[in-house]
Amino acid sequence: MVQQSLQDLIIKALASENLQLPALPTIAMQLQHALRDRNTKVADLEKMIVGDQALASQVLRVANSSFYRGLQRINTIQKAIIRLGVRKVAMLAMAVSQRSLYLTGNPQIGLYMERLWQHAFAAAQSSQWLANHCGCRTQADDAFMAGLLHNIGQLVILRVIDELSANKQLGGGPLPENLLNELLNSNMHNAMGYVLMKRWNLPDEYCIVARDHHREPYDSDNILLTIVRLADQACEKLGIGLRSDSSIALAATPEAQALGLGEIVLTEVEILLEDSVTMAG
Ligand SMILES: [Fe+2]
Repeated sequence: MVQQSLQDLIIKALASENLQLPALPTIAMQLQHALRDRNTKVADLEKMIVGDQALASQVLRVANSSFYRGLQRINTIQKAIIRLGVRKVAMLAMAVSQRSLYLTGNPQIGLYMERLWQHAFAAAQSSQWLANHCGCRTQADDAFMAGLLHNIGQLVILRVIDELSANKQLGGGPLPENLLNELLNSNMHNAMGYVLMKRWNLPDEYCIVARDHHREPYDSDNILLTIVRLADQACEKLGIGLRSDSSIALAATPEAQALGLGEIVLTEVEILLEDSVTMAG
């Protein structure tokens, strides 16, 4: 099948009214509601996380990674909450609960999904960190979520390709890499991400980040958007995700300047990002 017709087929499937969008895992939905509800108690969040054994063990694995590890190994969610704080543990749970969305039996698509997952996790960690270091502590949780989800449209595109390919609609064998890269990096991923996050009833500020994180010019008064754009470029500089450009000078970006972040803080972000790749699992 020629590349153009493959591309047309995929775009048609994405535009179809019958497009099946992935569902937000139930536990992620529950955590999202609980975190935004002022009446939620620490015990409620703990119960939710402990109630899901697989999730709890993933959270403990991340909590014991080099980035968070203290002197003693954390072996219960309760200890993780004491060490890291309940909101951070809930955020980690939210992130790892989405891991299952990034799995497939197709080896070629699987490699792409792996890179998307690493990028999502790294962008979440670094966005949260940047919020804490640019005087926007109150937005640190939102930065984590917006960073985690900003490229979720790429996941939608990949899952559609995965399904078409499983149904043998894209011919046999691996797909051309340039076709995949072109589709994933096109602004379709912004539109698809926006639609999906709206469908998931996520707060508007997260949806806007998905929609506008490549838009030029962008709204530099939107701190959340500015933070995620900077985190995204930091990931690109380190080659975490689908794009790689080691020549990016983070301190010279308009985003770093708008946030008032200099070389030292940005070098620390790069170190954090190197750790986050091993954490993502
Ligand atoms: Fe993007």
